[in-house]
Amino acid sequence: MPSYPYGLSVLLVYARKVIEVAQRTMSLNHDKPSHKPLPPFILDHAPLSHLWSQETWFPSDVSAHLTHVVPQVNFTNTSAAVTFGSISSFGEDVFLTSRDPVEDQPEWMLSSENKPNQTTGRSKAPATIIAVEKGAGILDAFYFYFYSFDKGNAPTILPNMSFSSHVGDWEHSMVRFINSTPTFLYLSAHSGGQAFNHSATQKTFGRATTFIAGGTHANYATPGDHLHGPFNILNDRTDSGALWDVTKNFRAFWFDKDTGVFSLAGGVGRGGFEEAQRCEGVGWLQFKGMWGDQRYPVPEHGQACLDVFGQDECTFDSGPTGPIMKNLGRIQVCQDETNCTVLDSLQ
Ligand SMILES: *[C@@H]1O[C@H](CO)[C@@H](O)[C@H](O)[C@H]1NC(C)=O
Ligand SMILES: *[C@@H]1O[C@H](CO)[C@@H](O)[C@H](O)[C@H]1NC(C)=O
Ligand SMILES: *[C@@H]1O[C@H](CO)[C@@H](O)[C@H](O)[C@H]1NC(C)=O
Ligand SMILES: *[C@@H]1O[C@H](CO)[C@@H](O)[C@H](O)[C@H]1NC(C)=O
Ligand SMILES: *[C@@H]1O[C@H](CO)[C@@H](O)[C@H](O)[C@H]1NC(C)=O
Ligand SMILES: *[C@@H]1O[C@H](CO)[C@@H](O)[C@H](O)[C@H]1NC(C)=O
Repeated sequence: MPSYPYGLSVLLVYARKVIEVAQRTMSLNHDKPSHKPLPPFILDHAPLSHLWSQETWFPSDVSAHLTHVVPQVNFTNTSAAVTFGSISSFGEDVFLTSRDPVEDQPEWMLSSENKPNQTTGRSKAPATIIAVEKGAGILDAFYFYFYSFDKGNAPTILPNMSFSSHVGDWEHSMVRFINSTPTFLYLSAHSGGQAFNHSATQKTFGRATTFIAGGTHANYATPGDHLHGPFNILNDRTDSGALWDVTKNFRAFWFDKDTGVFSLAGGVGRGGFEEAQRCEGVGWLQFKGMWGDQRYPVPEHGQACLDVFGQDECTFDSGPTGPIMKNLGRIQVCQDETNCTVLDSLQ
């Protein structure tokens, strides 16, 4: 159990309610009426996540990330810059490529200032919450976590190497609500993930507790070591490090699974209302390209590749695609629906 002063959070909830009421009375609420608010249960049951206690690559703000990258196709600039306004004009073949050499590890890749405040759980980097109505009383709430850098794991037998690092890192958890009740939890990890019966998960104040692996930011339902990769030679490490409460700072959206259109959501006055003030729009969520550099050829930027039991494993991989490419319209709980097993217990 983390040290999370319950009394203080209750006080904060009341303080926020007072501000909300004041904003409504004074017509200062920045949520325009057209912004359908998120149902409160999406925030009440948002997973609470522990970063690894020795994490070095913290959550990042998408808007800051964009200022440090340039759109490239096949390692060639296609534009001088990218903004929330222009990003949706770039194609699926575009890599948002770091302006700084990746080996320099500039501060924006580490994002250390975004380490969550341990009194409040708030990170300065807003999370991205996307709600998708699926019909028949089903609502999927996606909690997206963005990091400007993913540091790959070292194999247990080669502790000074690391594989599959990349600029940009999108991970998510998803809670499927049936008639407003949290029923399933999906956690992304590497190319796959795990799905659970929500009632099987560990809870903190009634919210599912998740554990984010150091460097790779893969999500798990239990603390400890998680072996993965070819022949399980890679090890994700998680523990009850800094608690991150995404409901304290987020951008919120609706996604219409039939039309593929995003729209702004109101944040029921809890953190999300900041979005309307930023005037960032929703176009950036339509970008289908990659949020980081293209996999470098050997030996650029220190790129090295090894044949690991028949698989080509490199120091650096290509950056990932964003939320729109993560199967938001899924019918099964898992991102990959071909073999979705829902676990009824924490193994
Ligand atoms: C990428 O650039 C390289 C070097 O300029 C070129 O040889 C190659 O054909 C290009 N590939 C594509 C898909 O455009
Ligand atoms: C590509 O864009 C970056 C960032 O603006 C710039 O530093 C670099 O010189 C550009 N490369 C070329 C070949 O123009
Ligand atoms: C964390 O949040 C508390 C409560 O808002 C605040 O008093 C404190 O200064 C914050 N700590 C840091 C390191 O920002
Ligand atoms: C691994 O790195 C550590 C710290 O940089 C160093 O002390 C150690 O000698 C290295 N081990 C190998 C096997 O290279
Ligand atoms: C989840 O587990 C609970 C408790 O074991 C059980 O009652 C419920 O039916 C399960 N839900 C689903 C959707 O399987
Ligand atoms: C489906 O997933 C289960 C559990 O993860 C695994 O044991 C099984 O081998 C998988 N089946 C296929 C066909 O991938």
